[in-house]
Amino acid sequence: MRRRSLTYFLLAVFLTWNGMTYIFLSTRPANKSRAVEKIQKRLNDLNSMIKKQAAIQISLLGHLGELKQQQFDYRRRQIDIPIVESIKQQIQKSTLPRHDLPVVLPVLVIACNRPAIKRCLDQLIEHRPSETQFPIIVSQDCGHAPTAKVIQSYGTKVKHITHPDLSTIEVPGKLRKFRGYFNIARHYRWALEQVFMVEKHKAVIIVEDDLDISPDFFEYFSATFPLLLSDPTLWCVSAWNDNGKTSMVDADKPQLLYRTDFFPGLGWMLTRETFLELQPKWPKTFWDDWMRHPDQRRDRTCIRPEIPRTSTFGRIGISKGQFFDKHLKYIKKNEKFVPFTKLDLSYLKKENYDEKFVQTVYSAPLMSVSQVVSGARPEETAVRIQYDDKMSYKVLSKKLGLMDDLKSGVGRVSYRGVITFMYNGRRVYLAPPATWSGYNTSWN
Ligand SMILES: *[C@@H]1O[C@H](CO)[C@@H](O)[C@H](O)[C@H]1NC(C)=O
Ligand SMILES: *[C@@H]1O[C@H](CO)[C@@H](O)[C@H](O)[C@H]1NC(C)=O
Repeated sequence: MRRRSLTYFLLAVFLTWNGMTYIFLSTRPANKSRAVEKIQKRLNDLNSMIKKQAAIQISLLGHLGELKQQQFDYRRRQIDIPIVESIKQQIQKSTLPRHDLPVVLPVLVIACNRPAIKRCLDQLIEHRPSETQFPIIVSQDCGHAPTAKVIQSYGTKVKHITHPDLSTIEVPGKLRKFRGYFNIARHYRWALEQVFMVEKHKAVIIVEDDLDISPDFFEYFSATFPLLLSDPTLWCVSAWNDNGKTSMVDADKPQLLYRTDFFPGLGWMLTRETFLELQPKWPKTFWDDWMRHPDQRRDRTCIRPEIPRTSTFGRIGISKGQFFDKHLKYIKKNEKFVPFTKLDLSYLKKENYDEKFVQTVYSAPLMSVSQVVSGARPEETAVRIQYDDKMSYKVLSKKLGLMDDLKSGVGRVSYRGVITFMYNGRRVYLAPPATWSGYNTSWN
């Protein structure tokens, strides 16, 4: 607003000066040298006036910026109040390497033909702490005019780019019903090329047009970004927990984060370096399962939260429909603001994490699934259930209400084969035997 009024002010001054000059010249042509002199003087006066006013406006803008930051911090603190006391005790100096903040972290919104993208864009704009630090790039495929109109209604608040290649892709006969997935893979590749190869950003947060985001969405990605850069065993940060149904997460631990070998997607951060590695071999279809393949993943891990920072409102989607009704709609995003950038997240680095993780999981008492389901031995606050092969993994997952699918041997949210979740108010680890030495990639 202030910037705009400065522009108007300068424009008004400029027009006034022009007008006066015109009147002066047209009414007093007689004495030219005097006229020129007067104009010169007036010009000088106006020039110094403009400079003074501009300096005032710029300083006002500075004050406005500071006040906005204060208001933002204040709002955060207010949201902080309901946060569990334990988080406040965790607030301490991070031991992660500092980087030059603020790093620009664009949000890439993948869009096609859904005018309800408005809901997603409204939330991104509402929660982003800074327009310059988190520019929003909406990449639209499909050429759908009503959706384009919605995106354009945001003016300069979002950058709208459109996928130029809308040609029909040749799809082999038996895959014809998956045509949509071919279009999506082609669009993702193009959009990521714009972000990393045209605009040369360092990293990007990718969301789809049907996602709701949590109030601390940007805080989460800001805080995990240095982690992603400094730990070479990490290749993504995701806002998603595949088993994040309300009954399966600890509502008192919104600050809790994990490592996972399963690539979750659904609101995730990727670095330029990783994209440049993937780009030359980007697949024609099913890009997310392709990422989960050992050839791409190469034993790398993502960070994921206990409580998701995104949820999906799209029932009508390419794959969703039934899956949404059965599963996705029970996954609720976090509503409490966690000041992640003020927490020490170095526990998530591989060298600090693995030993403690294994120790915690395998020191939990072993119980059968029926004992866990019936709530036996309630004094145990963390317990372990063992699976021995693919079949028992599937059977146990189903009984416990977990996602039971495996991609290249990795179950959803799995870390070192272990699925961590809550069941009837206690922590449960669905785990392979302690002798586990790697995923069996034939389990699918
Ligand atoms: C024009 O202006 C000059 C300098 O101010 C002055 O000396 C001269 O008398 C003026 N001539 C006329 C015609 O007004
Ligand atoms: C991997 O799993 C398959 C199918 O369950 C099994 O036949 C095979 O022995 C397993 N391989 C290893 C190395 O455990």
